[in-house]
Amino acid sequence: MTKKVHVKIPATSANMGSGFDAVGIALTLYNEILFEERPGAEAITIEIKGMGQNEIPTDPAENLVSEAMAYVAKRNGQPLPAGHLTLINRIPPARGLGSSSAALVGGIMAGDALTGRKLTKEDILIIANSMEGHPDNVAPATYGGLTSSIIVHDKAITNSVPVEDDLSFITVSPEIEVSTEEARQALPDTIDYKSAVFNVSRVSFLLSSFFTKRYDYLKYSLQDKLHVPYRIQLIPHGQDVLDAAIAAGALGSTISGSGSTLIAFATGREREVEEAMISTFAGYGIQSFGHILKADNQGATYVDIPK
Ligand code: HSE
Repeated sequence: MTKKVHVKIPATSANMGSGFDAVGIALTLYNEILFEERPGAEAITIEIKGMGQNEIPTDPAENLVSEAMAYVAKRNGQPLPAGHLTLINRIPPARGLGSSSAALVGGIMAGDALTGRKLTKEDILIIANSMEGHPDNVAPATYGGLTSSIIVHDKAITNSVPVEDDLSFITVSPEIEVSTEEARQALPDTIDYKSAVFNVSRVSFLLSSFFTKRYDYLKYSLQDKLHVPYRIQLIPHGQDVLDAAIAAGALGSTISGSGSTLIAFATGREREVEEAMISTFAGYGIQSFGHILKADNQGATYVDIPK
């Protein structure tokens, strides 16, 4: 029987303002990875549909999905079958919505399904974190929900809590790409004690705002002194767009991951918030597109393939 696998992986928004490199959330926008063995084929061929069609490499030696598949196959001590890989991309690449984490987590799961299916979610997280370098996108991509992660002896450990549908996440992605590398270079080498205390208080307040569903507190708990003030300057007119979201009825707004996507949180008036953010960018001649999303509470899943 030819081997087939189908994996669906959620977009993620890392940091959530005050939770730099630690907190993340999975969102209801999905990439899909489909692999079908082709008997007689000599290698893996890759086809990309949707976002990033013209930018993401289709050479298996350079594509994150096939690299992650190959890594896991080697770890499992079994060769990957040759065949065709179809990547259906809905998460915009290089925009701070976890497209590379989705590729890694999905690739690890696809590779594992084809070579033994041995990995637990914990293993997937540890492998994906070692490849990505920080856990705040790979953790929600793996587990779903609102995740808090720590690194202990180089290994990521994550706690995930589900988030109900009453909270919406409005993401608006401008045409500008910001690489994580560039966004990390914009950060200072040190921060002062007061800023550290500011962030500790905000991030603990962020988690308790979610536990108690006091989403009105998001306007405080998203506040940050570690990255947002430095990175917002890489997104032209980004602060105006964050302010426009609040003026249109959002409960809070911040940068998604390392940008350039901006994310607003709302329990109503979602369309108005999205329109206000898009039209503020448009007022400065910047094209953007938006999504109104909910939290995904499952994380990456295998999709049943009809026999
Ligand atoms: N926590 C990371 C950062 C997420 O903000 O640099 C980006 O992938």
